[in-house]
Amino acid sequence: MKSTLFIILLFLFMTVEVYSKIIKQIKTMDLVSLPIVITKDKHDPNNYIVKSQWFGFGHSDDEKVTHILTCQENSVKIKHTHQVKNFSDYEAYYEIKVPKDTDIVNCERSMEMFDGEFLGYSTFSFRHKS
Ligand SMILES: *[C@@H]1O[C@H](CO)[C@@H](O)[C@H](O)[C@H]1NC(C)=O
Repeated sequence: MKSTLFIILLFLFMTVEVYSKIIKQIKTMDLVSLPIVITKDKHDPNNYIVKSQWFGFGHSDDEKVTHILTCQENSVKIKHTHQVKNFSDYEAYYEIKVPKDTDIVNCERSMEMFDGEFLGYSTFSFRHKS
């Protein structure tokens, strides 16, 4: 009888042990890509300012995020396609120059941590008229 009780207690103890280990393992890290905002340059109709924003949790404020913007069209020029930001910056700006005769511009953005860990990817297109 006593040994049965001991085994039950031992089993309960072990269950709690395992449970508490699982609790310690829970860690959520996430980065959410927010919608892109594209603004036409007032002074140059072939120039665009692209604002990319993100949010997330589980990252420290000064964690480095490499933010990359590229466009499929080789004729489209982007200033500073790779930008290293602090996670807590929550935004990155790009200047895109599009040739006059381009109709639709297809671009993509991706975000990575410094160690190359992938955080997010999205594509966007916009029509260029000048
Ligand atoms: C990141 O934040 C640190 C501390 O606030 C600051 O010194 C540094 O210049 C920032 N780096 C970038 C890339 O913004």
